[in-house]
Amino acid sequence: MKHTEIREKFINFFKEKGHVPVPSSSLLPTDPSVLFTTAGMQQFKPYYTGEADSLKDLGSKNTISIQKCIRTSDIDEVGDESHLTFFEMLGSFSFGGYGKEDAIKYAHEFLTKELGLEIDYVTIFKGNDEIPRDTESEKVWNSLGVDDVRELGREDNFWGPTGDEGPCGPTTEIFVKNFKSEIWNLVFNQYYCQKDKSLRELDVKGIDTGMGFERLSVAAQNKSNVYETDFFQPIILEIRGKNLYDFAQNSSSERIIADHLRSAIFLIADGVRPSNVEQGYILRRLLRRAIRHAKLLNQPEDLYQRVMHVLEHDIYTGIYPELKERSSEILEVIVAEKEKFAKTLDRGLREFEKLKLISGRQAFNLYTTYGFPVELIEEMAKEKGIAIDLADFEKELEAHKAKSRAGAEKKFGGHGLVLDTGELKAATEEEVKVVTRLHTATHLLHAALRKILGEEVKQAGSDI
Ligand code: SER
Repeated sequence: MKHTEIREKFINFFKEKGHVPVPSSSLLPTDPSVLFTTAGMQQFKPYYTGEADSLKDLGSKNTISIQKCIRTSDIDEVGDESHLTFFEMLGSFSFGGYGKEDAIKYAHEFLTKELGLEIDYVTIFKGNDEIPRDTESEKVWNSLGVDDVRELGREDNFWGPTGDEGPCGPTTEIFVKNFKSEIWNLVFNQYYCQKDKSLRELDVKGIDTGMGFERLSVAAQNKSNVYETDFFQPIILEIRGKNLYDFAQNSSSERIIADHLRSAIFLIADGVRPSNVEQGYILRRLLRRAIRHAKLLNQPEDLYQRVMHVLEHDIYTGIYPELKERSSEILEVIVAEKEKFAKTLDRGLREFEKLKLISGRQAFNLYTTYGFPVELIEEMAKEKGIAIDLADFEKELEAHKAKSRAGAEKKFGGHGLVLDTGELKAATEEEVKVVTRLHTATHLLHAALRKILGEEVKQAGSDI
């Protein structure tokens, strides 16, 4: 079953059950306390809390989405059979429209009837001092003939919040036969987790379900890992091209290139540009790691172009139009970053080769002079089996930052900064007001430029 077919089935199934499909939101969330969109529910947060009314805004209390997500906690694990940085999440949501019973029944019907998968077992929340055991879910599962219901604690069967605060609640997770990890996570948003971590009951109970699309495809396409599904096979084949290296021996490099380029392409399409901070640093890290692994496999120059082409042309045709619309711009960003890194990569690698042990200073030198993200240095050190003094590296980095801050303070008349976000700097409350106005003006200007010249207008850094 191709992923395009699963997409259609998912949308049609839930539409028939009264859900409105909502397009994926950007990978860059509006919530400033998180770097990336990591779950489908993020764009719906205000509907759970009652701050917004989905019936008014979206025409229904029940929605579905196929959300683009980036999770960075496992970047270094990428290369094995299952970890990914970018993935899509199939999700169904309800903001007071229906409850646990329907949520479980829909998930059960979709997996078993539409996709023909067999449920192995499910898990439920076992309860603790604060929150009762989820006996209701257990009863629903039993009524559907699923008797292997295992109970787990807060670590495994409780979700949320994303960011500093937000909706959260117990979950029930579904495991299907022949697939090792959980396939679908059904969250029952019964509480609001406040900044101090205390819980308050939500007036309207919500449903938030999420199922990793690539993982689901492993089960639905009967493959042994995500790289064998139709999300990745075309990319892997491009990476192999006419090359005759040992595929089995280099599967980790192949996967790193495939995963990281795919994530980078989607991030660039959503407006991220390589830099040394926040989202831009993650993008730089992904790209530079992919570039190094491409070098290990002696990839030809046109690798990036070919991967871009299969993504927009073969895998996501008609699904993410931004890839097609921005393909030349995306490619330019990747090639520019590659050229920038290429200038120092060979010399940096030669420097690295000389080292028998990496001191903080040497790591810092590889980082600043040769542009190696520190995680890449760590990876190379691990491959070579040599130690790296990370604590000392952090000290070097802090000292460097302090120096830059001192430089900025000098620029601001010698007094300390009351505001310094990197982008916005101000030394007094008065200046805060001024830069706030300038910041707003910048956004208005960009909005106007985009309106007149089109969505391709992008801001690539500012210093206000
Ligand atoms: N929010 C839950 C998750 O991301 C279910 O969608 O797993």
